[in-house]
Amino acid sequence: MNRFLLYPGAVLAAALIWAASAGTVSAADSQPAPDTVEFYNQRIVPILKNNCTECHDASKIKGGLRMDTYAFLRMGGDDGDILTPGDPDNSPMIQAVRATEGADLVMPPKYTLAQADIDTLVAWVRAGAHGPGEDTQIQTASATTPPAPQRTAAPPTNLKVLPKELTNAQVRQIMDEWSDALGADCNNCHVQDPSKVSASGKPLMDYVSDSKQEKTITRVMVRMVENVNKSYLETVPNSGLPVSCGTCHRGHLGPEPFIPPVHTTTQSAAN
Ligand code: HEC
Ligand code: HEC
Ligand code: HEC
Repeated sequence: MNRFLLYPGAVLAAALIWAASAGTVSAADSQPAPDTVEFYNQRIVPILKNNCTECHDASKIKGGLRMDTYAFLRMGGDDGDILTPGDPDNSPMIQAVRATEGADLVMPPKYTLAQADIDTLVAWVRAGAHGPGEDTQIQTASATTPPAPQRTAAPPTNLKVLPKELTNAQVRQIMDEWSDALGADCNNCHVQDPSKVSASGKPLMDYVSDSKQEKTITRVMVRMVENVNKSYLETVPNSGLPVSCGTCHRGHLGPEPFIPPVHTTTQSAAN
């Protein structure tokens, strides 16, 4: 704030530019309407920046989803489109932030958005989820059939090491834990299904397929971890910590070898 006071000229210039672009709109109407690109820029982008892009931008594309530009937002994630313009109730992004009980997806994962922010997102989607460059970027999607986002909420069908009765949400939580422990993304262990694409043309993931070697190795790892804990650690008196994926992997897909420090004395090598 103080910085602005030092540069009254800059404020005046900005105000003039703003006034010019606002045309005949009076100052009282300065709040952009939800069906405008300005609404996206001024109201939606800050919510996404403060709560979402930490995990959904170029450096961390969780769930195959980037939210750092409007075009990426409209491309959706691994499970397809996240927005159904005009229909917040059928937009996975809105379902996720509403975090209703038993929801397949809860975003952000560790806290709930302020109700005012949820209301802002809902208003934007209801008004058509408009944003910069949408005419060029997403015409293909809206020109065909209306996008029908389909998250794969179906119960898992190909569990060989995890308990078969796990729900999709429970499996997703384990997947997030593995991803974090290994610093891996879903596509390190899962493949895309070239025959399935979202309304915006993005190939979807095929989580059921076993064609990735990492998925097969992971099953070996899961059995190993269970065995280490059950057959060995549980028999150690006062053993506190169970072994988990992170014990060895520590955020890396391939665990790094531990190289003990070199001893400077010559004696230790004898005997
Ligand atoms: C701490 C990290 C983190 C933050 C912050 C975060 N997400 Fe996510 N998000 C994830 C992970 C991990 C996944 C993949 C999990 C899955 O698909 O089960 C995901 C997946 C999603 C998906 C599903 C994508 C798809 O097609 O599978 C949506 C939609 C989503 N997030 C929306 C949001 C929104 C909106 C916000 C901010 C309000 C947000 N996320 C904040 C970690 C995060
Ligand atoms: C380190 C490897 C690995 C990572 C990373 C991983 N998965 Fe998995 N995933 C597996 C394995 C292995 C199974 C099968 C478990 C079993 O056989 O019991 C599986 C199963 C699944 C299933 C159940 C499929 C079915 O119908 O049987 C879903 C859904 C899934 N993963 C989603 C995800 C998502 C979403 C992510 C990213 C957030 C992810 N996975 C990250 C290894 C991984
Ligand atoms: C006792 C240590 C240890 C634990 C615990 C462990 N791993 Fe591993 N994991 C390894 C080692 C060692 C390798 C082989 C690394 C190599 O040769 O590149 C490996 C390899 C893997 C690979 C293949 C990596 C690649 O480069 O393709 C995956 C995937 C994997 N582990 C997943 C898991 C998961 C998931 C868990 C938890 C259920 C787990 N691991 C627990 C030690 C461990």
